[in-house]
Amino acid sequence: MFKDKKVVLGVCGGIAVYKAVELLRLFVKAGADVSVVMTRSAQEFVTPLTFQTLSGNPVHRELFDLYQEKEIGHISLADRADLFVIAPATANIIGKVAAGIADDLLSTTLMATRAPVLFAPAMNVHMYENPIYQRNEASLRELGYHFIDPDHGALACGYEGQGKLPEPQAIFTSAQNLLAPQDLAGQSLLVTAGPTREELDPVRYISNYSSGKMGYAVARAARQRGAEVILVSGPTFLLPPVGVTLLPVVSAAQMRDAVMQALPKVTAVVKSAAVADYRPAATATEKIKKSDDDMTLKLEKNPDILAELGQNKQGRILVGFAAETQDLLKHAGEKLKRKNLDLIVANDITQCGAGFDCDTNIVKLLHADGQIEELPQLSKDEVAHQLLDRVVELLAHRPQEED
Ligand code: CTP
Repeated sequence: MFKDKKVVLGVCGGIAVYKAVELLRLFVKAGADVSVVMTRSAQEFVTPLTFQTLSGNPVHRELFDLYQEKEIGHISLADRADLFVIAPATANIIGKVAAGIADDLLSTTLMATRAPVLFAPAMNVHMYENPIYQRNEASLRELGYHFIDPDHGALACGYEGQGKLPEPQAIFTSAQNLLAPQDLAGQSLLVTAGPTREELDPVRYISNYSSGKMGYAVARAARQRGAEVILVSGPTFLLPPVGVTLLPVVSAAQMRDAVMQALPKVTAVVKSAAVADYRPAATATEKIKKSDDDMTLKLEKNPDILAELGQNKQGRILVGFAAETQDLLKHAGEKLKRKNLDLIVANDITQCGAGFDCDTNIVKLLHADGQIEELPQLSKDEVAHQLLDRVVELLAHRPQEED
């Protein structure tokens, strides 16, 4: 998302400046071309050389230095930017922008830009709670400026409370959301994720190795692109993406019920959950005690949720997943047909860099018209965006609703 994008990182004075260094590294790693603007007080905490070395660009500091150049510096910075991120943002810069004061390079550039601006405030808790600050933030929000709320915790000033600069990754994600194309705005997506657990007795269950990472990445990416997202998730250790409606479930039967309930609201379903195909025929109410003999477990079939959705599509786009250990294309192709899907995401889980609990995936996309696309090894976030690119296309060409 940041490839070839021009980001202006505005750095104000505060102990949290060190986190802006890490934030800069995240932008650079993501392919952004970053210009750093430092206020005078920011330079008291970290030298411009650090930002210059990491960004590969000169650090902008003085309004009048830039006037020496051929172009008017603050205007060209303001015009070139795809996004402004101010981290840490002090009460001072927020107050200045809210009041229309442009008396240094950063405030002047902010006044001149039409790019989206994200403020990441960090300050003493009493300053943060001060109604003057709160009024300034509220009026900027009303004007369309974006904010990421400071965290609670121990502050450098010795106080405990809200005012800590959020972790660089959280600021980076918020910035990413601002640049995402809003091509799923107005759509509602249902995403399933994680494993299901089929209870044997109060202390045991049958499950699988699914971490839920792929499904959570799809839910997060869809939300970034403007969709309303319902995430039906089996048990995972993941935090639900911000802005997504989470419906937690445990068993396949519960997942089916949650999916069927949410279905009327959605235009597309992405079924990344690893649903257990079988459950114990009986669930004991007490712990099963060991005996001297071997034990045979009788299993009965779970509903195939996706196949059921495929039988009654009503114009919805259906995307399935196929995690296989052999004959990938053959098995995935069969599932695509059998479940009446528009697209299936196939991955060979024996391949290094693919499959459960990995942060990357290597997938093939099989379309209903027979087209097969092979994607390289990508992060699960990137796979999610690739998959959603196809969903956007499919939604644009979907057949009219049948009764
Ligand atoms: N799926 C489902 N309900 C099930 C089983 C699978 O909705 N009871 C969905 C999965 O979420 C996935 C797709 O169907 O999107 C394929 O799942 P997979 O387990 O690979 O396929 P199965 O049909 O169960 O076939 P098999 O286990 O024999 O490979």
